[in-house]
Amino acid sequence: MVRVVRATQVEIENAVQALRDGELVAFPTETVYGLGANAQNPAAVRRIFEAKGRPPTHPVIVHLDDPRFLHRWVREVPQAATRLAEAFWPGPLTMVMPRAAHVHDVITGGQDTIAIRVPAHPMAQQLLTAFGGGIAAPSANRYGRLSPTRAEHVREELGDAVRVILDGGECQLGLESTIVAFEGDTVRLLRPGGITAAQVRAVAGEVLIGPGPESPRVPGGTPTHYAPNTPLTLVPPGEIDALADAASAGGRRVAVLAQRLPLRAHKYVTWINAGRRPESYGRDLYANLRTLDRAGCQQILVQGVPDGDRWDAIRDRLLRAASNIAESDDVTGTMAALP
Ligand code: TXA
Ligand code: MG
Repeated sequence: MVRVVRATQVEIENAVQALRDGELVAFPTETVYGLGANAQNPAAVRRIFEAKGRPPTHPVIVHLDDPRFLHRWVREVPQAATRLAEAFWPGPLTMVMPRAAHVHDVITGGQDTIAIRVPAHPMAQQLLTAFGGGIAAPSANRYGRLSPTRAEHVREELGDAVRVILDGGECQLGLESTIVAFEGDTVRLLRPGGITAAQVRAVAGEVLIGPGPESPRVPGGTPTHYAPNTPLTLVPPGEIDALADAASAGGRRVAVLAQRLPLRAHKYVTWINAGRRPESYGRDLYANLRTLDRAGCQQILVQGVPDGDRWDAIRDRLLRAASNIAESDDVTGTMAALP
């Protein structure tokens, strides 16, 4: 799959004009595609919520091209945040910090904090620099569905709501950013992502995992999140062939996402071997789930993934996608349930 790293001047000008007009622009980042609006225009940001069907109380991340503009959005930058920014920005890290006074409630969901990320994708950088301001952007999917990792995913799902879709091909990481918050100078990991807990710990010292009593909670509905339409079940790694046979007995069609080839031929099973490397498994995860979702199967079985923090973000998204666990859209989701 091709990765396009630069947009043309004309594409960027069109996108910038759309943002200035209060319209929505979808753009690639190294994690997933974002659905962007001018972060200083509350009416434009509200359009994001309408397009996604997302409850208005859920905060969105503001994207900047460079940390030097942090003070426009953040009242006080924790010391640990400065160190993390130096180590991981631009990159797949989002930091939740005290918000500056002028930041609109529609961005923060009325909370006293704001989430900021400096993305590394050259096309996201190009857009942010040309626009010259902050771009509010959640993942460019309908609320509760799989995040898009290719421009055509955005087109399929949000098409008409978006004036411009910048096509960067396939996203390199394929899973949303790591989100951290701060309690004094202690870091709390709210969502696992491309930067692992061990990487954060190496820079910032102690890291608390998962939501704490003080962590911001997002009110609103509790649909399954990051989910395909077809019911998805996580199964113990060694039982995937046997369970695929059992589930497809009588000609029921079953989809499987595994880390290896099937041990034998299965008559009614659509099987994807996503491999054993967390990098490629994560990069392809949402695209694979979209493919299996369209395969006309009654059920998706996912072979459980290995332990170890390189699989944390993948395990987190799979747990949220599993139909047997109802999760909220909130970052304070399943981490406590991680094995
Ligand atoms: O990789 C990513 O982070 C992508 C790309 C586009 O940057 N964005 C993304 O946005 O995943 P979204 O909205 O799908 O997920 C952001 C999460 C949400 O769960 C939201 O509740 C949380 O960040 N969040 C945003 N602002 C927050 C805040 N002030 N406090 C706590 N959580 C916040
Ligand atoms: Mg999202």
